[in-house]
Amino acid sequence: MILGIETSCDESSTALLEVKRGRVAALEHIVASQAIHAKYGGVVPEVAAREHSSTLPPILAALADRACGSPDGRKLARKVDIIAATRGPGLVTSLKVGLDTALALSVAWRKPLYGINHIEGHIYANWLPGGEFERSWSRDAGIFPALVLVVSGGHTELLLMAGHGRFRLLGATRDDAAGEAFDKTAKLMGLGYPGGPALSKLAERGNPSSFDFPKPMINDRHFEFSFAGLKTAVLYFLRDNRHRMTEGDFMADVAASVERSIVDVLTAKCARAAASFRVKTVMLAGGVAANSKLRENLAASLKAAAPKARLVLPPKEYCTDNAAMIAAAGWFNARKRRPDDLRRLQADPGWELGRKKP
Ligand code: KG4
Ligand code: ZN
Repeated sequence: MILGIETSCDESSTALLEVKRGRVAALEHIVASQAIHAKYGGVVPEVAAREHSSTLPPILAALADRACGSPDGRKLARKVDIIAATRGPGLVTSLKVGLDTALALSVAWRKPLYGINHIEGHIYANWLPGGEFERSWSRDAGIFPALVLVVSGGHTELLLMAGHGRFRLLGATRDDAAGEAFDKTAKLMGLGYPGGPALSKLAERGNPSSFDFPKPMINDRHFEFSFAGLKTAVLYFLRDNRHRMTEGDFMADVAASVERSIVDVLTAKCARAAASFRVKTVMLAGGVAANSKLRENLAASLKAAAPKARLVLPPKEYCTDNAAMIAAAGWFNARKRRPDDLRRLQADPGWELGRKKP
């Protein structure tokens, strides 16, 4: 039974996950999203940390209530075998709230603690209920080597996964992440924050071939990305076409064209990597994995470029930040390594999965 805690950005989340006989036997999870950042148009770190410290205790109590029928932590303490909390990457002040709470609980309850990589958490969303690997907790046949396309608000990268906990970074974004590209263009279009889901909704009514926005690095052989230029292109395009913004489907066409640029780059690079490394599976991970166009286009491209690779999509419910995925990663960490040393464990805001030490 794993208690999961996630506070790396602007979602406070707790989860209790029970794994038995190679599958999830029980799962409770609570996510409290911080709506306050919408009025600033982005996450304000100091505000996020304060929100976490006021939200985490009540959502721990609510988790105890759901799982044990009482908000009293003593019953929860008896159930929990290990604690898993996000250690990085993320905003350091946000990470500290969750990790310090987990450290205190670990000392008070005398339970082993695992500091978890947030991106590894996103990957293990594929093992949660509704996911392709929900019955594969003790069976790895047919999964590895896997290629993971991580697409979140803070990260865009391609990782080669040789086995549980074994990652090699093939390439990452040099500037903005895919989620950031969605959020920043959505903001320019007046769609609020976070704008990814809103932009994608608006795009449904638009024609993706209306405008040619840049598709940065789409034909380069390396596996790096760059989305900052796209945002600038949209900024100038909207400035030059301000008079058309109230025209019929103009904004929907812009949204659909922007979405196509982002999705085409992600899809092309991912399909090329899947073919070059001859992987058995291609997994999506992170908030942008919820995007329907990305899911559809990737399926089509993989069929052509790497027909033997199986495409694995995380359940939509677990794509964005949550503690259930952190608890899942905790379970796999506990199978492979010792718990963290409580005297040394610290938040690591820049922790990169799979990057070779220089
Ligand atoms: O993984 P996540 O919850 O947070 C980070 O770890 O960064 O990802 C959040 C990102 C935001 O940028 C949000 O706009 C984007 O995921 N996102 C989407 C969709 N749902 C969430 N982007 C495009 N289409 C979606 N349906
Ligand atoms: Zn995330």
